[in-house]
Amino acid sequence: MKRYEALAEEIAQSIRTGVLKLGDRLPSVRQTSTSRSVSPSTVFEAYYLLEAKGLIRARVRSGYYVTAGAASLPPEPEHTSTPSGESTAVDISNLVFEVLESIKARDVVPFGSAFPSPLLFPLQRLARSMTSGLQAMDAWSAIDDLTPGNVNLRRQIALRYLADGMHVHADEIIITNGALEALNLSLMAVARPGDSVIIESPTFYAALQALERIGLNAVEVPTHPREGIHLEALDTAIRRHRPKACWLMTNFQNPLGSLMSDDRKQALVALLARHEVALIEDDVYGELYFGHKRPVSAKAYDKSGLIMHCSSFSKSLAPGYRVGWVVPGRFSQDVSRLKLTTTLAASAPAQAALADYLAKGGYDKHLRQLRHTLSVQQAAMVQAVVRHFPKGTKATRPAGGYFLWVELPDGVSALDIYRQALSLGISVAPGPMFSANRGFQHCIRLNYGHPWDARAESSVVTLGQLVAAALRG
Ligand SMILES: Cc1ncc(COP(=O)(O)O)c(C=O)c1O
Repeated sequence: MKRYEALAEEIAQSIRTGVLKLGDRLPSVRQTSTSRSVSPSTVFEAYYLLEAKGLIRARVRSGYYVTAGAASLPPEPEHTSTPSGESTAVDISNLVFEVLESIKARDVVPFGSAFPSPLLFPLQRLARSMTSGLQAMDAWSAIDDLTPGNVNLRRQIALRYLADGMHVHADEIIITNGALEALNLSLMAVARPGDSVIIESPTFYAALQALERIGLNAVEVPTHPREGIHLEALDTAIRRHRPKACWLMTNFQNPLGSLMSDDRKQALVALLARHEVALIEDDVYGELYFGHKRPVSAKAYDKSGLIMHCSSFSKSLAPGYRVGWVVPGRFSQDVSRLKLTTTLAASAPAQAALADYLAKGGYDKHLRQLRHTLSVQQAAMVQAVVRHFPKGTKATRPAGGYFLWVELPDGVSALDIYRQALSLGISVAPGPMFSANRGFQHCIRLNYGHPWDARAESSVVTLGQLVAAALRG
């Protein structure tokens, strides 16, 4: 396939899967040429080809617009979830540990996994940075890099935020062992056993486990599969339960893939400031966008210091390095002391390696490739679901990340499908593991972060057959 054909096919996939919608304007030829590192003539050829196929149309002095959506997409789940509104103790860990343990084996098809394929990451290049990083370390690094962490790494992270329009000073950043530690330290800084914490419904199971471990009560708030948490319901829940914090994913929520718009993020920040409630913002997927620019974080609108913004390199660059960070706002001292008294610091060599990698460049190129791969794999999985799952199935089409949230037809049990599929060597993540009340009984989360091949396609066929058989009952 020639370059312009590959580019045209990729844009066609984005149209088919709804990433680009009817009436959307395509990026200009110059923008595409820069972002894809191809010549303007390659972009023109690709656009001409798409025009010839009737997928886009040029408007004079305005650019190219999408003219045809794909007819053959599964419907999207439209409804905001409806949790009970009560504050509940959490008891989810056994189910979560069972599922996580069962899907770890390498020969299981990893649709239930939380991780993308390790092969998508520049591991050799990172290994070279590990060597250079180690060479640059002196004997005092073990002390210099104690919490808040390696200053060069914190500067590089701050620079990336600056490039995306968010003003975070290196001094405001605390390096952690992955985002999960950042999130847990943030939670411990603001909540004590018996307090209530607001979470999305559904939510990332590790948030539920963190609440369970500390003895906090969960208040699940209705969340829309595309737009994220429902702000009026959040307001009501805050008035009713007086929570100590909200733990939310503003960009490409796990498991829904929802993305809050800038306006909604701004409204969220204003709402929380009015009520003086801290936000633990989990932004590990922010870099994995399929659009034209990184979605901002709620932290970008924070004037009161209430937002504890957490992220890591685990999903975008260096899985297994366990390097993440938190920008804890007004809770900086508490988080820093908690870090010092729990795990003291993050690994100095891993921090040095990432500082070296980021300073030498190449991260943006890697990210462009990663986003492209994920968006193409999403298109393949969506198409497979539409072909092989029975009528009545609904699936999200997130604009980033690597999870598809699938609503099975009424009456199909996700836990049954999970068990049957696993016995055939296919993993899925069943909906109940994402809810304190074991809701989402007919939903599954599928991971499209792995190479799409014949085995993946045939596994979707098998899943579709299991769902159809469950329907027949
Ligand atoms: C939403 C979300 N937050 C946090 C994490 C954990 O990130 P890390 O591996 O950097 O600790 C994950 C990993 O699955 C995740 O999905």
